Amino acid sequence: MTQTTRSLADGTTLPAIGFGTYPLRGDDGVAAIRSAIEVGYRLLDTAVNYRNEREVAEAVRASGVPRDELFIQTKIPGRDHGNARRSIETSLEIMGLDELDAVLIHWPNPSQGLFVTAWEGLIDAQQAGLVRHIGVSNFTAAHLDALVEATGVTPAINQIELHPLFPQDAQRAADAERGILTQAWSPMGKREAPFDAAPVVAAAQAHGATPGQVILAWHLAVGSLPLPKSTSPQRQQENLAAAQVALTSAEVSAIGGLAREDGRLFDGDPDLHEEM
Ligand SMILES: NC(=O)c1ccc[n+]([C@@H]2O[C@H](COP(=O)([O-])OP(=O)(O)OC[C@H]3O[C@@H](n4cnc5c(N)ncnc54)[C@H](OP(=O)(O)O)[C@@H]3O)[C@@H](O)[C@H]2O)c1
Repeated sequence: MTQTTRSLADGTTLPAIGFGTYPLRGDDGVAAIRSAIEVGYRLLDTAVNYRNEREVAEAVRASGVPRDELFIQTKIPGRDHGNARRSIETSLEIMGLDELDAVLIHWPNPSQGLFVTAWEGLIDAQQAGLVRHIGVSNFTAAHLDALVEATGVTPAINQIELHPLFPQDAQRAADAERGILTQAWSPMGKREAPFDAAPVVAAAQAHGATPGQVILAWHLAVGSLPLPKSTSPQRQQENLAAAQVALTSAEVSAIGGLAREDGRLFDGDPDLHEEM
């Protein structure tokens, strides 16, 4: 299947729309993730703290899609910052895989003061062939620079909260300047998703698209790689087809204009929020 793609700094291409797997667990979770693979998703986003790496692996096996056609990424939790390589080995054991496509540091947890140590662990795991690409999540420009200063190695990916209510213009620019691909978590805006907002409705009507597709098309237009989650095969398919919707620059600006002064969905400021 031909998919719109995005490139990492080393030239590796990724599908432009990935599948978010939180909080899909148990048999229903496996079914939802398997359905996502079957409708065409090839990038799967999980994390140790989602406690569903096993379900992701089971869905991959059940789908019959060859492993090398999928991009599987997980995230190491705060409690593993001092032990990142071991954390990755455990994820590989749980998933029954030899190698992950990407591993991210889930949150910087700055008060812990160990995110550079965690980054050194990811570099070690990459050199040992356990993971192809290494990156981060919820990192600010200052956190990114601390990693590069200490190790000389720039993350391939920064996965951040990003949706029309919180478009993250400055962080997207900071990532792009450093050659880092920005992925978007809660790309719709989750429970606050602006499906009824005037610019979204107008663009949906103009393009014969759904509001969800318009929001995802906005991500692609601003250079963000969205990771929508859905349990519904129909919405999974709808979301993937958003890559066919080409918004005008006026529509992109109008949707970006939905930004709120503090558009975060919860108090997830990476300088303050900590997750273990
Ligand atoms: N790195 C981090 O710190 C972090 C934090 C949060 C999330 N994430 C990642 O980001 C992924 C997505 O985030 P999220 O689940 O919080 O938010 P989201 O994808 O913005 O929103 C998901 C919600 O939107 C609904 N939905 C999906 N497509 C829709 C459509 N086309 N029309 C109407 N409703 C639609 C889903 O309901 P249905 O399921 O009923 O369709 C679900 O309730 C997660 O799964 C996870 O992989 C990462």
